[in-house]
Amino acid sequence: MKVVAVAAALVLGPPPLYPRNVLRPLASSRSPTPGLFLGLIITLAAVMAYSWYITVQISSLRELQNDLAGRNRKDSLQLLRIQNDLNSLALAMRDMLDNDEPYPLTAWSAQFQRIRTDLDDALKLEEQDAVAERTPQQRQFLGNSIAQFWDAVERTFELARNGKEDDARTEIRVSLQARQAALSTAVARLLVQNNESEEQVGLRIGRIYDRVQRQVYIFFAAILSAIVLTSLYLIQSNRRLFAQLAALSEQRSELAQKLISTQESTLLHISRELHDEFGQILTAIGSMLSRARNYLPENSPLRAELREVSEIAQSTLDKVRSLSQALHPVMLDEAGLESTIDWYIPVVERQTGIEIFYKKSGMPFSVDGSVGVHIYRILQEALNNVARHSGARQAWVQLRFLPEALDLEIEDHGAGFVEQSARSGIGLVAMRERAELLSGSIEFLRPAEGGTLVRLRVPIEKAELHVQ
Ligand SMILES: Nc1ncnc2c1ncn2[C@@H]1O[C@H](COP(=O)(O)OP(=O)(O)OP(=O)(O)O)[C@@H](O)[C@H]1O
Ligand SMILES: [Mg+2]
Repeated sequence: MKVVAVAAALVLGPPPLYPRNVLRPLASSRSPTPGLFLGLIITLAAVMAYSWYITVQISSLRELQNDLAGRNRKDSLQLLRIQNDLNSLALAMRDMLDNDEPYPLTAWSAQFQRIRTDLDDALKLEEQDAVAERTPQQRQFLGNSIAQFWDAVERTFELARNGKEDDARTEIRVSLQARQAALSTAVARLLVQNNESEEQVGLRIGRIYDRVQRQVYIFFAAILSAIVLTSLYLIQSNRRLFAQLAALSEQRSELAQKLISTQESTLLHISRELHDEFGQILTAIGSMLSRARNYLPENSPLRAELREVSEIAQSTLDKVRSLSQALHPVMLDEAGLESTIDWYIPVVERQTGIEIFYKKSGMPFSVDGSVGVHIYRILQEALNNVARHSGARQAWVQLRFLPEALDLEIEDHGAGFVEQSARSGIGLVAMRERAELLSGSIEFLRPAEGGTLVRLRVPIEKAELHVQ
């Protein structure tokens, strides 16, 4: 029973000798994706951080600009107001000195008081808004000068009130007018200083803008270089990866083909050994037993036993021959591919119970044994797959001898290929590699009726030549 199972397995095709993971050599190659992903994250983070920094810089600059310009303008307005008050004081003093006026000097006291209130207010506001840097001496000078001016004004009006109008006028001419002129000059200087500081602020802001702009250019240049370098690295690693892939694919194919060739020569060797060595030994044993039987009398019980032993030797010889045939049909070398297929089809029908419609066409030509064995193995694997996967009870095999090629088609109308499981085995891969070894082509198609159609085409110049 066990021997039959082994024989059936061998008839349906030898097990692949090559390991399955030969087809997955790329699993260990390192991918550049994590590095590129990290690069992308860093670039994006840098762009975001820098955009945020620039936005903050520009908005704070704008605020600074508006604040400084506004305060400077307000300060200048207060200074102009002070200057205006000082001018009014100058005019009033001129009128006071003018002898044409019919009023006493004290008549100007109220006007002076009004101007003083306005001047104090303007001075207070000006001090708040002052943008330009002023030394404590400058501040003290203005405050002291104004206080002294008002003291002098008080003194003058006091003299006037005491009827000393002439002394009061002298005081105006000698002291008040000079103090007023000094104050006017000081305020004018402050106005000029304000103007200068406004210009300086403008220049400083302009310089900051220039610096930010330069930084933006540098940053963009750096980012652009990073992008260019990353892209170059990506292209380079892709190229390397594809080259590796192509080389590995080539190596895999070469290895598979070598393994197939080794497998075939090993099987051929074992098959020949079995056929020639064991075959001859068993044949010799059989004939010696027959001869020994003939020396015994007709009714000897030993004669019956010798016949039984001789039958066992004969059946062992048959099994060895069929095993040898299954491993490598000797027929392929002796009678050719066509006769081997003629013999093989009924064997599969018997083993699997599948009804096979076999058709030959064209002008038969002889196929070299080393080529024939690959065609035979493809037929074996295809019929094996029909039996194992299609669920069909019928199959069609066509062998066509064409003027330019040899065509072999194996068709069933069963389940057909299922996308995912189509990658699980090694049979299809081995079929492709064998077709490649023959410089032929193999296709796996779906016929209109459903199921699977395997079509092998071997060019005639190859079919008639040795491939190893
Ligand atoms: N005639 C067929 N009908 C339906 N499915 C098929 C047929 N031939 C192949 N397949 C599908 O293709 C898959 C791959 O076939 P393949 O011969 O490579 O592997 P396998 O037969 O599963 O294993 P092994 O390596 O032993 O041949 C099968 O698992 C099966 O799903
Ligand atoms: Mg298979």
